[in-house]
Amino acid sequence: MNSWAKDIARILIPHEELQRRVAELAAQISADYAERNPLLVCVLKGGFIFLADLTRALTVPHCVDFMAISSYGNATRSTGVVRILKDLDCDIVGRHVLIVEDIIDTGRTIAYLLENLRVRQPASLRVCTLLSKPARREIELHIDYVGFEIPNEFVIGYGLDYAENYRNLPFIGVLKPEVYQRGLQQASGAKASQG
Ligand code: IMP
Ligand code: MG
Repeated sequence: MNSWAKDIARILIPHEELQRRVAELAAQISADYAERNPLLVCVLKGGFIFLADLTRALTVPHCVDFMAISSYGNATRSTGVVRILKDLDCDIVGRHVLIVEDIIDTGRTIAYLLENLRVRQPASLRVCTLLSKPARREIELHIDYVGFEIPNEFVIGYGLDYAENYRNLPFIGVLKPEVYQRGLQQASGAKASQG
C-alpha cells in the first residue's frame, strides 16, 4: 500500500482526467490569448503543478511569474487576511495577466489578489483556477477559466496540500476528515499557511 493511501477517503479526480481537462483549458486560453503574449501569474505554493502542466500545453508565446502568499487562518479555512511573501519579479503595466490558482474556496484570497494586481494597471486581468468550490463562496466573483467545480470537501494532491503534505500526489483526492481533525487538535488556534 502507498504511504498516503490510509489518509485518502477517495480519489475525486484521477490523473488522466486532470490531464485531459488541462489540455482543454490550454486550448481555450491559447485561442483567447493569440498575439497577446500573456503573463501567467502562478500563486504559490498550491498552483505549481497546475502551472507546470498548463504552461507546457499552451501553444501561444507567454511568460510566467510567481507570487507567494500566506493566508491567515487554520489549515483548512482561510480568512482572506493575506500577506505577500514573494511579489512578482516583473512589472505588469499594460500586460495581459492571467492568475493561475489551485482552488477558489471562499474567494477571499483571489479577491485580495485581484485588487492588489488591478491597481498595477495591467491591460487585462483574468483568473484560471483548477478547482472551485461554489458552495463555499463568500465573495461573489467572476472566474474566467475553471477546471472543475467540486463539492464542499477538503481535497489534496496535484499541488494542493494539507499541512504541506500530499502536494505530489498525481490525482485530486479527498482527505479523510479524521486526518485534519487530528491535526487541528494538535495545532489548535490560527496560524499562517501558504496556499
Ligand atoms: P479562499 O481564500 O477561501 O478562496 O481559499 C483559497 C486557498 O485556500 C487556496 O489557494 C488553498 O491554498 C486553500 N484551500 C481551500 N480549500 C482547499 C482544499 O480543499 N484543499 C487544500 N487547500 C485548500
Ligand atoms: Mg492557493
